[in-house]
Amino acid sequence: MIRAPKAWMPYLLALAALIFAIVAASSLWILGDRTLQRESRQQLQGEVQIGGPFSLIDQNGQRRTDADFRGRHTLVFFGFTNCPDVCPTTLATISEALNKLGPKADGVVPIFISIDPQRDTPAALKPYLASFGPRFVGLTGTEAEVAKAARAYGVYYQKVPLDAGGYSMNHSSIIYLMGRDGKYLAHYQLEAGPDALAADLAKRL
Ligand code: NI
Repeated sequence: MIRAPKAWMPYLLALAALIFAIVAASSLWILGDRTLQRESRQQLQGEVQIGGPFSLIDQNGQRRTDADFRGRHTLVFFGFTNCPDVCPTTLATISEALNKLGPKADGVVPIFISIDPQRDTPAALKPYLASFGPRFVGLTGTEAEVAKAARAYGVYYQKVPLDAGGYSMNHSSIIYLMGRDGKYLAHYQLEAGPDALAADLAKRL
């Protein structure tokens, strides 16, 4: 009983030190976490640096640059005419969505940029895109011109040899909505479907 106060002192001091350490550590952790949050927010803002200058040839053989589309929205999609499923489905989805939009669709140019310029000449693009309606601008160019455009949009693509001979192309398949100033506004996955795409476009245009 009598020696108790003195005997407890070291424990109390140790407990106080422990509590202090925990509080100090957790406030440092919170500060660190805030810094992380700020950094990841900046990274997100960096990620929307999608799009940029391009200079390519359209399906009529005319040279077109990004500046030609200022004042109109664009829906930009990268693909290739020999694509068995994803590209034709995406083009059909875009076409259907724009048809659902009505007159608002006149302010939107859907642009299909080939990542297979070896086979996708202007002459190859023209009938292919016409089969999805009259709206599409098809763009192709040299390997270097296509690579530059793809890089600007953060699009991945790669040639894949086929067992049966020839090759296919792996590529990312995101639809980008760009504003009248050419700046990124939104992106869509194919799974969205024509109704969801039309609904979102109606809100943004
Ligand atoms: Ni494809």
